[in-house]
Amino acid sequence: KLESTLSITVVGASGDLAKKKIFPALFALYYEDFLPEDFRVFGYARTEMTDEELRNMISKTLTCRIDQRENCEDKMDQFLKRCYYHAGQYNSEEDFSKLDDKLNEKEVGKLSNRLFYLSIPPNIFVDVVRCASLRASSTKGWTRVIVEKPFGRDLESSRQLTRCLKHYLAEDQIFRIDHYLGKELVENLSVLRFSNLVFEPLWSRNYIRSVQLIFSEDFGTEGRGGYFDNYGIIRDIMQNHLLQILALFAMETPVSLDAEDVRNEKVKVLRSMKQLELENVIVGQYKGHSKGGKSFPGYTDDQTVPKDSLTPTFAAAALFINNSRWDGVPFLMKAGKALHTRRAEVRVQFRHVPGNLYRRNFGTDLDKATNELVLRVQPDEAIYLKINNKVPGLGMRLDRSELNLLYRARYPREIPDAYERLLLDAIEGERRLFIRSDELDAAWALFTPLLEELEEKKIVPEFYPYGSRGPVGAHYLAAKHNVRWGDLT
Ligand code: BG6
Repeated sequence: KLESTLSITVVGASGDLAKKKIFPALFALYYEDFLPEDFRVFGYARTEMTDEELRNMISKTLTCRIDQRENCEDKMDQFLKRCYYHAGQYNSEEDFSKLDDKLNEKEVGKLSNRLFYLSIPPNIFVDVVRCASLRASSTKGWTRVIVEKPFGRDLESSRQLTRCLKHYLAEDQIFRIDHYLGKELVENLSVLRFSNLVFEPLWSRNYIRSVQLIFSEDFGTEGRGGYFDNYGIIRDIMQNHLLQILALFAMETPVSLDAEDVRNEKVKVLRSMKQLELENVIVGQYKGHSKGGKSFPGYTDDQTVPKDSLTPTFAAAALFINNSRWDGVPFLMKAGKALHTRRAEVRVQFRHVPGNLYRRNFGTDLDKATNELVLRVQPDEAIYLKINNKVPGLGMRLDRSELNLLYRARYPREIPDAYERLLLDAIEGERRLFIRSDELDAAWALFTPLLEELEEKKIVPEFYPYGSRGPVGAHYLAAKHNVRWGDLT
């Protein structure tokens, strides 16, 4: 039996994502002994650099964050010794064939597995897979390619990209990353639902009144305005990260945990969604604002963004699923940049208790008495359930209290970064957390008509100050569906 070797090539090695996420995640996997004994990491980019320079660059972002074990520095050195660099153009077969020679050199007499991470803009994905001739590679083991969004701008461009990629790669070689699927609490969503008797029977329109998927960041598009202006928040966050969480949340029970079974259910629920209407969407854009003597730039103050840009940096939407489980339940999504806080969470608001015996104790506002289950994806991971409880004492006063699972208190060990899980899964050939092409298609089919309408009608976003809670339109949208945003109450 041949011994196997793994080569991981990060294409776009000098980019931000590679430096901040990919190399540190690879080091964390190495540190924890998850990488095979025989592995190497290759950086590929256009900049001329020596192996030593690459190692220097990477070393700046590696941390011994897992714990402070003494041998961390040594491990770092050992890891860096396995990192090599190859400079080349992204559209040059010759440059990629030289890389191939380098890979071959280290793989002689071994079963060689190759993982390529395309950490580059999507307009050059196809050049790279063509030039690197990944399907016809000389390797005897597997060759897999990880790609990062954006996977197109709409249904048509996404299909076009899929067709091109499939010309050079088989679908099972393509690993489309949505890093939100690698987040601990998103992974836990299915566990919570399917392995707790107290939740699964409640998971339907009979007991759930609304589901809210909330993403907010307390910084703007600083430095990324050029990229962002071509996409906007709906394409950047909603069509992928939030919709993926929605699919996991709302899908029917899969036959098993196999990748195909889970993804079949996700596609099914995505295809059951009602077409998104403009009247169920509001968009916003942040304006410059001064606070505490400090001034924060507006979105269009960015040099790379046109002054008259209508690109939304905030959006809220009400989505519906046309099936017997979810008919009529609003799935409210909200995503925004330059808001007052950084947070991602799922909020499940339950219905009122019919004929609540204690209704008098809640005054006229029964909404204050509904149960709410919150999964705080980040920061400070937590799951908590808001319940009504008697305030101890001789009177009968009720209080909304919480059953609280705070991860940092319950699980002191640091939670791995999403990229660690996803890279490990790709190495192990586990596809469950990667997006299949029909899933991607269904996601674009849902959002494309809305995006086109917003652009054709030149809908002017509602402005909100940098660092605020976002446009008031989001409240009206929720109120229209008889709910309130849980994060604001
Ligand atoms: C990316 C978006 O996919 O996710 C960014 O393109 C966003 O705009 C980022 O900032 C958020 O990821 P995280 O893991 O920091 O919440």
